[in-house]
Amino acid sequence: MTPADVPGGKRKAPTGADTPADTHEVADTLAGLAGLDPQQIVAQALARFGDELAIAFSGAEDVLLLHYARQSGHPFRVFTLDTGRLHAETYRYLDTVARHFGIRIEVCFPERNEVETLVRRKGLFSFFADGHGECCEIRKVEPLRRYLAGTRAWMTGQRRDQNPATRATIDPVQLDARFAGRDGLALWKWNPLVERTQADVWDAIRAFGIPYNPLHERGFISIGCEPCTRPVLPGQPEREGRWWWEQAEKQECGLHRDG
Ligand code: ADX
Ligand code: SF4
Repeated sequence: MTPADVPGGKRKAPTGADTPADTHEVADTLAGLAGLDPQQIVAQALARFGDELAIAFSGAEDVLLLHYARQSGHPFRVFTLDTGRLHAETYRYLDTVARHFGIRIEVCFPERNEVETLVRRKGLFSFFADGHGECCEIRKVEPLRRYLAGTRAWMTGQRRDQNPATRATIDPVQLDARFAGRDGLALWKWNPLVERTQADVWDAIRAFGIPYNPLHERGFISIGCEPCTRPVLPGQPEREGRWWWEQAEKQECGLHRDG
């Protein structure tokens, strides 16, 4: 059965062809979020979507979302994309976070055949030679697409200040322009921290005593895969710590192409 055959409801092609009704509903919701703080946005998203919403946790500072989710009193789902190339510290941290919040983090893995074919053909570090797109597509984007196809909404820790070249216009809630949800339905994407700065997030993490990835104490700000992440100097833009050998507008892995 294809998505178009599923009876009832609105359908969405995985290319982002949302219906006018979807667009209208999200615009109304967005207008209603004006003046709300991230904690209130998280609570509203969870109240609306329940376990059809999943929080995307990267093992970095977006842990604040989990704190707000717990404070909301609603049950919540959390997933992470294990690319197989994360720092040892990040793997340990994922376990620390699961224990801290008393949750299971749903870990998504890439397709074994795809990874094997890439590595046998091009080696373990092909991204330094011909860009990170191919490896990210296999290790992150495809697993994300597969996971999101079982949801109606997801939540990310994206902020506008992370990358002025690509994230300046993202909203606290939007329709995902790249991925589809369950049965091909329009997928809602919540970004409650979008208007917060890096300093705001860190003030909150310290104030609430939330555990953080120890790599942050060694100059790492934005943390992804080990080979593609490096520490930055004080005052240096955080995206210069990711895929630094490529241009700023390419410093995205494809999870947030609409961002
Ligand atoms: S990325 O596109 O460059 O990798 P970034 O590291 O800035 O994204 O993280 C932005 C948000 O994307 C995070 O707050 C998190 O919600 C989500 N995200 C990024 N990487 C992962 C991952 N490996 N697993 C789950 N979510 C992720
Ligand atoms: Fe591959 Fe680097 Fe992308 Fe990780 S960030 S999936 S190692 S290219």
